[in-house]
Amino acid sequence: MANKAFTLTDPESGRTSELPVVEGTLGTPGLDIRKLNGEMDVFTYDPAFTATCSCESRITYIDGANGVLLYRGYPVDQLAEKSSFLEVAYLLLYGELPDQGQLDEFVNAITRHTMLNESLTKFFDGFHYDAHPMAMLTGIVGSLSAFYHDTTDIRDPEHREIFARRMIAKMPTIAAAAYKHSVGQPKMYPSNDLDYTSNFLRMLFAVPAERYEVDPIAAKALDVLFILHADHEQNASTSTVRLAGSTGCNPYAAIASGIAALWGPAHGGANEAVLTMLNQIGDVSQVPKFIEKAKDKNDPFRLMGFGHRVYKNFDPRATIIRGYCHQVLEHMGMENHPLFELAMELERIALEDDYFKERKLYPNVDFYSGIIYQALGIPVNMFTPMFAIARTVGWAAHWCEMQNDPGMRIGRPRQIYTGSPKRDYAPIDKR
Ligand code: CMC
Repeated sequence: MANKAFTLTDPESGRTSELPVVEGTLGTPGLDIRKLNGEMDVFTYDPAFTATCSCESRITYIDGANGVLLYRGYPVDQLAEKSSFLEVAYLLLYGELPDQGQLDEFVNAITRHTMLNESLTKFFDGFHYDAHPMAMLTGIVGSLSAFYHDTTDIRDPEHREIFARRMIAKMPTIAAAAYKHSVGQPKMYPSNDLDYTSNFLRMLFAVPAERYEVDPIAAKALDVLFILHADHEQNASTSTVRLAGSTGCNPYAAIASGIAALWGPAHGGANEAVLTMLNQIGDVSQVPKFIEKAKDKNDPFRLMGFGHRVYKNFDPRATIIRGYCHQVLEHMGMENHPLFELAMELERIALEDDYFKERKLYPNVDFYSGIIYQALGIPVNMFTPMFAIARTVGWAAHWCEMQNDPGMRIGRPRQIYTGSPKRDYAPIDKR
């Protein structure tokens, strides 16, 4: 807490309230308004939380104006270039980069928690073949809460650690199984001799009847994408996990609530929406028409994969992944594929258009991630589960941080009521 404070005065009664300034290590400070309601009988009003800090956190820092993203202080571009997804997972969970022994132990533990309880795998059979994988992910992860009663004492740090590791380890297995169910293929067991992303690609694409060789360029691109998606401070799904977690609910259930929140097209569902949009546009010649539609206030159409609540100049993740996007397209011999030509034309025109420039609407990470996933042959309805696999690390890190905070209380926003004033019930024949 800093000693600076703002004073708020009620112009009618003259009552005042001191609002102390809360400083972090970096970034915009916050006003502590907790006493405001008691002292002034007024709430603050901030729908969509555009100006509200819901917690203190040491995990991730974003400077939206300057396109900065730090995990535990480390710039995400350095991590994307030099680290690996599991090393980044360790960093986000424990706060420091591991030494070799710590990393080996962590990777080994994650690798050995990848299998699912056989009873759990039967749950997939209850889903219709065309269920969206995100629906299966939400249901299956929620049902993990029925499996680990003995290790989910949320007050026990060891139990919290087992939960986090188990969740990170099992998510790729669950996501791949959801896909296999939707195409009617046998589910593949994890293979402990492969690294995290290679193992996922094998579980997704291999069939027991054939040998499967993992493409190292695909595995590397996926590893970088997972690093870039691993955490993003108090985004909608992480805030959902924190809010659910603040009630003391089972941690797997809290993660399931985050998966549900991620699914929406304004959040993690954007990568799938990008491909749906590109298919809807259909041809390069149609790009100007759709740009006009996106600018038309009477048309609900938006350019998916453009714009961000926090990044108003550029999305640093998009800058990194754009390079990989071109590399993957080239590797797959798909640079001249009509869909990708279309995407590149959309990017070019939107970046030159005044509407997008004035509103600072730049391609975000999901514009490029959707294109990479498509080039790697990942089915469109699996795009958002890919995001979920990576973001599980952030959700688990935030849940653990919150449970470790002795001052944690149930999250409970207030509202401005705009409904009817008090009125009396009228019998049905008098209405
Ligand atoms: N296409 C056309 N116009 C847009 C778009 C877009 N994609 N995004 C914002 N605008 C306009 C919007 O109409 C508004 O215009 P005006 O000021 O004239 O009314 C202005 O830009 C500000 O938009 P907003 O809706 O107030 O911005 P927001 O911060 O509430 O929403 C957003 C951010 C990401 C939800 C939004 O930009 C959007 O819907 N983008 C498309 C979906 C998308 O790509 N989402 C993925 C975000 S990155 C992954 C993640 O973190 O989950």
